[in-house]
Amino acid sequence: MRVVIGGGTGFVGRHLCRLLREHGYRTTIISRKEGPDQMTWNSLSELGLPEDCTAVVNIAGENILNPMVRWSEEFKNAVISSRVDTTKMMAEMIKKARNPPKVFVTMSGVGYYEPSPTAEYTESSTGGDFDFLSRLCTDWESAGSLPDDMAVRRVIVRSGVVLGRDGGMIQQLFLPFFLGIGGKIGTGKQWFPWIHIADISGIICHAIKNDDVTGILNGVAPEMATNSDFTQAYGRAMWRPTVFPIPTFMIKFMYQSERSKIILEGQKVIPKRTLESGYKYVFPDLKSTCSDCAKLMSS
Ligand SMILES: NC(=O)c1ccc[n+]([C@@H]2O[C@H](COP(=O)([O-])OP(=O)(O)OC[C@H]3O[C@@H](n4cnc5c(N)ncnc54)[C@H](OP(=O)(O)O)[C@@H]3O)[C@@H](O)[C@H]2O)c1
Repeated sequence: MRVVIGGGTGFVGRHLCRLLREHGYRTTIISRKEGPDQMTWNSLSELGLPEDCTAVVNIAGENILNPMVRWSEEFKNAVISSRVDTTKMMAEMIKKARNPPKVFVTMSGVGYYEPSPTAEYTESSTGGDFDFLSRLCTDWESAGSLPDDMAVRRVIVRSGVVLGRDGGMIQQLFLPFFLGIGGKIGTGKQWFPWIHIADISGIICHAIKNDDVTGILNGVAPEMATNSDFTQAYGRAMWRPTVFPIPTFMIKFMYQSERSKIILEGQKVIPKRTLESGYKYVFPDLKSTCSDCAKLMSS
């Protein structure tokens, strides 16, 4: 039983590979670099999927919120291509495979849903066509389409902000919060759809293992929170005050206007189908998640 994971070298990928191995799977990562248990995208396109591949996952994607790179057309194209073209290539490889895998799981984002202070979104809500990010999610999701007559299950996970001690947003926030200079972002009233790293990997593993899981799953925790709720919970977990808000203009300066919306606006996202699918969260609440993310060392 082998799972092939595009972009498996990153934050989510490291946790996912570890979890899948605990569940008895072998893993092969598709990466831009050579490495142990890795194939490059070029060798995937030349050699195809390994014969014993039971599941294919794509979580590759250029980091959108890299503050060191300006939000230029060139960078936007890299953001699109790293998600859409890699997903398309995996779909092509599945179509060509002599023994196709049982399931194809791909990542998307809650940016599919339009930011709003009042709307509540489940997996069946509309969206996906109002700004750059939402259209990216639509193209990313449809890039993995397979012919109807192929018996390969399709699962798409629309992820919220992934929280974990050793990567993603917490890696940026740990030091300022530790030093007692953390604070809410902008007004702090924007929704903050979040998920613990153990659960985003858990949902992908659940989707691979359970034959009845199909379609869209919201990759967010069941406890809804605003940016202020998160800031207070993380400050409390660190035993630190959170009285230094980060002003809106600073976020706009760092990330430029279009991209800063990801941080300054948010969506209230409910994991309705994820819960109905029988997934049991390891970290369903913000308090236990923030305690875990406040540890000095990652486990
Ligand atoms: N972390 C979050 O809070 C969050 C929230 C919502 C959605 N997501 C999505 O979840 C996925 C995984 O997130 P992550 O936090 O694990 O990201 P990550 O740590 O940045 O890892 C993503 C991986 O994608 C590959 N990649 C990066 N740029 C690429 C490019 N230009 N072309 C091809 N591959 C490229 C890299 O693998 P190689 O260097 O080995 O090629 C990298 O290890 C991403 O698609 C992200 O958009 C993440």
